[in-house]
Amino acid sequence: MKQILDLISQEVMAAFEACGYDPSYGRTGISNRPDLCEYQCNGAMAAKKKYGKAPALIAAEVVEKLAENPAFELVQAVGPGFINLKVKGEFLQKYLLEMQADPDLSVEKTKEPKTIMLDYGGPNVAKPLHVGHLRSAIIGESIKRIGRFMGHTMIGDVHLGDWGLQMGLIVTELKHRQPDLPYFDENWQGEYPKEAPFTISELEEIYPSASARSKEDEAYRQEALEATKMLQNGVPGYRALWEHILNVSVTDLKKNYQKLNVEFDLWKKESDAQPYIPDMVEKMKEEGYAYEDQGALVVDVKEESDTKEVPPCILLKSDGASLYTTTDLATIVERMKLFAPQEIIYIVDKRQEMHFTQVFRCARKTGLVGEDTKLKFLGFGTMNGKDGKPFKTRDGGVMRLETLISEICDEMYRKILENHDADPKEARETAGIVGLAAIKYGDLSNQASKDYVFDVERFTSFEGNTGPYILYTIVRIKSILSKYKESGKTVEKGGILPPAGDSEKNLALSLCGFNSAIAQAYAETAPHKICSYIYELSNAFNRFYHETKILTEEDERQQAGWIQILELTMRVLETSIDLLGFSAPERM
Ligand code: ARG
Repeated sequence: MKQILDLISQEVMAAFEACGYDPSYGRTGISNRPDLCEYQCNGAMAAKKKYGKAPALIAAEVVEKLAENPAFELVQAVGPGFINLKVKGEFLQKYLLEMQADPDLSVEKTKEPKTIMLDYGGPNVAKPLHVGHLRSAIIGESIKRIGRFMGHTMIGDVHLGDWGLQMGLIVTELKHRQPDLPYFDENWQGEYPKEAPFTISELEEIYPSASARSKEDEAYRQEALEATKMLQNGVPGYRALWEHILNVSVTDLKKNYQKLNVEFDLWKKESDAQPYIPDMVEKMKEEGYAYEDQGALVVDVKEESDTKEVPPCILLKSDGASLYTTTDLATIVERMKLFAPQEIIYIVDKRQEMHFTQVFRCARKTGLVGEDTKLKFLGFGTMNGKDGKPFKTRDGGVMRLETLISEICDEMYRKILENHDADPKEARETAGIVGLAAIKYGDLSNQASKDYVFDVERFTSFEGNTGPYILYTIVRIKSILSKYKESGKTVEKGGILPPAGDSEKNLALSLCGFNSAIAQAYAETAPHKICSYIYELSNAFNRFYHETKILTEEDERQQAGWIQILELTMRVLETSIDLLGFSAPERM
């Protein structure tokens, strides 16, 4: 269904036209003076120039035309030419009834479905997930769900980092620790063992120690670089070892993402792009884009309008090895070939912006993507601790994602038990659900590109703009609905009445804004718009709830109407949090 603002604008535009003005001046917005009116049109001011007439006069004419319009209960020309509007309860009632009957709650699906690929998550094989990967996973998952809800084909790809120096480091460290493994025997003829020679915890310990050593020991570093190249060149023992590293890692990663309620359609890896590299490079050379510079193969990507230097894209290093840039370019080739997306969105730390500027420019310039494919970089900010510095463990180490999640859930558990006597087992489960909401909402309620402070105390609070507050609102509604049903009544549809009072009208107005909030969140790839919307809706609901005795209402028609408003509010909230990637418990 059309957004309510469009319906209102339609009426006001018709009035402008009937008075002999261009209808476009009738575009109406939400009022910025909610104490005076609900909607507001400032078109008369803009029309002054064209018609050489005082805006107040224009506004007065339009208001006269609108006076009889059944949509409005108040139409007023004020000040130098503003038109203030309040809608009639019946108008809202009609809108809500349609919304209630629609499984999509009046959100209009796109008429031109696109194939959109999302590159998010981006963990690195053999390194534990840390909080830096959290943001990408949370934001990407939400954008994927929003796009899907709008009717687009969203393909989420985890794009595992499995091809760089980190792999060479692990292989080298293993070779030092267990030189007798068959993987390092050049003359090995038989099959390689099926079992990996390490567990995930060993793997997670191997990488940091290898990485530390490579910083001090140059010979070791050279060995790791050589191992990386041998792996990339397909030396069988190295490949077999790499497969083990990959399998052990992926099993662990899948478990972790599942806990986060994050699900990828594709588990592609940097290495999957490898087969596309030679042809891609050859073509760039042939067409004159790539040239040699101090032994490396590069493509210029600077543009005249640049205000800061954009260095050339390095395709191959002087030793012929490929780089992060090379795999990202070749991954574009692969994605175009396999999925032909109209859009690829990368949800990556904003500190990688320059890398993506280079990659996108190079891909465009060399024709890896055509005009009708959009490449978009959605850079997110850093998650900081209360000290304003990147989030760390108490002893200053990198915080593992698992640790962070369990800390939040423990805090939630404590709060739940403090709130009321709950069965400890149930409280644990609930704490898991609410804890995840606290983390995700805490992240998503900020504009993605901004840094934010991860504040356990604030994020887990039941009050204020938090995940637990939204869930609390949903649980409150569920509890009223079940009490209503316990009294033998059923929740029907079609019985919403025009709002009876101020707080109810305010709630109705808020509910009517759902489709517009979702459309905006999609258009601006901005999940935080959904957070602001549900926070406002929850506030509107809670105000109505405190002012209204629903369960003791004697007029059954009135009571049924309210119950239906409650149910609609719950559907809107639950749909919204699903788009954000979390869910509500039954009780809390
Ligand atoms: N693995 C990378 C990292 O941890 C992120 C990958 C982002 N995606 C991409 N196509 N480059 O920094």
